[in-house]
Amino acid sequence: MEFIKVTEQKEQYVALVELNRPKELNALNHQLMQELLAALQQLDKNENVRVIILTGNEKAFAAGADIKQMADKSAMEMLMIDSFSTWDQIRKTKKPIIAAVSGFALGGGCELAMMCDIIIASETAKFGQPEIKIGTIPGAGGTQRLTKALGKAKSMELILSGRFLSAEEAVFYGLAVKVVPVEMYLHEALTLAKEIAQMSPVAVQLAKEAINRSFETQLDEGLAFERKNFYLTFASEDQKEGMKAFVEKRKPEYKGK
Ligand code: CAA
Repeated sequence: MEFIKVTEQKEQYVALVELNRPKELNALNHQLMQELLAALQQLDKNENVRVIILTGNEKAFAAGADIKQMADKSAMEMLMIDSFSTWDQIRKTKKPIIAAVSGFALGGGCELAMMCDIIIASETAKFGQPEIKIGTIPGAGGTQRLTKALGKAKSMELILSGRFLSAEEAVFYGLAVKVVPVEMYLHEALTLAKEIAQMSPVAVQLAKEAINRSFETQLDEGLAFERKNFYLTFASEDQKEGMKAFVEKRKPEYKGK
């Protein structure tokens, strides 16, 4: 792995994936995204991992798709390479991914953060889809996910003008869950990850799947999906253990079965 760094056990059950192209502000080239997808797929299968944190560095989460790599490409080349279908597979990750964002999360960087399940922001985080300034538009979900998160008017403002959203605004609009001082953002993400990692991994996976369904379906279908996943948790030992522990007034021990 050249452009990402994986720490499989940053804490028990918590993996850390760091984007590592600092000189280019973690611009997302083809190789980096291939490496990232491979790492996520591998961590998704790893029984010792329950939660994944994705981060960059203090200055940049990621400043977008690599402009230098695509500047001269023709429409046909872009279509045939179709790198965004690789990106799209990231959302198939079953385990929760927390994006710990500091500095620039722009263009594809903002889209990547939004493909994660929860965003924790440092006070220096800047979110934006500035593609319009380089004569193009978001191509990896920005017009869809940003609009779902912020609503139509704010997304129009950001995407049509290329303006940035501050960390405070990101929390205000519900894009990020929390803004913390820059020296704390990774710590904050780890604290949340450890808390989630204590839960039944079966229930966490089914809950994530059901929440994501709400973005993909109408209410009736989403509710039916949620209901089935709820009933399905009763097939797990973890559900039996969780409810038994509650009745016995003790801490549950989850096995992911
Ligand atoms: N692609 C390629 N290289 C990038 C890059 C990108 N997206 N963003 C930054 N870099 C490179 C710069 O070219 C520069 O490299 P050199 O030193 O070799 O010149 C290096 O990273 C440092 O960047 P700056 O000198 O520009 O740093 P700055 O602090 O002055 O500015 C910035 C920071 C405002 C983020 C600025 O770099 C910038 O505007 N970057 C581009 C942001 C952008 O337009 N992103 C959208 C890309 S398109 C996209 O993502 C499509 C999609 O939907 C997936």
